[in-house]
Amino acid sequence: MNEKKKIILTGDRPTGKLHVGHYVGSLKQRVQLQNSGEFDEIYIMIADAQALTDNADNPAKIRENIMEVALDYLSVGLDPKKSVLFVQSHVSELTELSFYYMNLVTVSRLQRNPTVKAEIQMRNFETSIPVGFFCYPISQAADITAFQATTVPVGEDQMPMVEQTREIVHKFNSVYGETLVEPQILLPDNQACLRLPGIDGKAKMSKSLGNCIYLSDPEDVMKKKVMSMFTDPDHIRVQDPGKLEGNTVFTYLDAFCTDGHFKEYLPEYANLDELKAHYTKGGLGDVKVKKFLCKVMQEEFSPVRERRAQYEKDLDTVYEILREGSRKAKEKAAVTLNAVKRAMRIDYFDDASFLEEQKGYFKLENRGNDA
Ligand code: TRP
Repeated sequence: MNEKKKIILTGDRPTGKLHVGHYVGSLKQRVQLQNSGEFDEIYIMIADAQALTDNADNPAKIRENIMEVALDYLSVGLDPKKSVLFVQSHVSELTELSFYYMNLVTVSRLQRNPTVKAEIQMRNFETSIPVGFFCYPISQAADITAFQATTVPVGEDQMPMVEQTREIVHKFNSVYGETLVEPQILLPDNQACLRLPGIDGKAKMSKSLGNCIYLSDPEDVMKKKVMSMFTDPDHIRVQDPGKLEGNTVFTYLDAFCTDGHFKEYLPEYANLDELKAHYTKGGLGDVKVKKFLCKVMQEEFSPVRERRAQYEKDLDTVYEILREGSRKAKEKAAVTLNAVKRAMRIDYFDDASFLEEQKGYFKLENRGNDA
């Protein structure tokens, strides 16, 4: 197979609109990788089938978010000329691959997957885990290997999934012969980007907590959210020394701002270190820091908003991009599925030696009976 090709596969569950945590944690890097020209093929998947593993009773929620996520992708700069954007459920080869991989993974190994463990707790599944949900790391291995992905750019929470995939690849290749490509995870290099907190300072941005900044938020909404961000509750008067630890505004600045932003919007400081030093010493108010963050985020997201507005006016095109992308993705996955079946020697009807071999056995058997 194409060992030398550099291929990206990654994706998101369409359970809601994507937020700025997704952006710094993965989307921004995907666009950079896409535009680097270093990759031969790039596949970006809307993981609706995976989203259904814990939303079986609410398929409408998933359906509603297909176009929403597609718009998020296109608006951040994923370009359908360079990246294949597709919908997971429309590549049936992925489910077929999952079924064969299931035989290579033990129940106890799945139970030890830290992400699955955490999610089971979060959803209070404990004793009533849907089997499909429990197996989603296996289906994720199918997603990754079907495209022969060498590189999986994702957030840190997906580390156990890529690890599990690598195990499946090893197992498959050692049992059936060298067939699948071993993927590498690619994490964002900026620590602050690994997990951006919600605007209330809680560790995770989530729709149910109402603490998200969405990529689709209009400028005024984003501003309002930044101005209401959690900072240091003990930093009451401007002259008080402020704490950086757990201070959401500074975490966002860590994730978003560059020295260039200081030159442009806050030239009295050379960089973020100087701003932080002033804040911890005292004499720097939250409002000033928040206003700066607003400007930084406005610069980052105004092109995103513009692209989104264009695509929103032309949903027919978005629909076609997904349909065509899903067709291409299916073609690629079929190549891998065929290779997998060949390696397992279950490709009976494409294997001329199958019938000959069987005839040979039957002859032997008959001879045995005669004797
Ligand atoms: N699990 C990912 C998420 O929660 C979505 C996903 C499904 C994915 N299959 C994938 C990511 C394969 C990377 C590679 O968003």
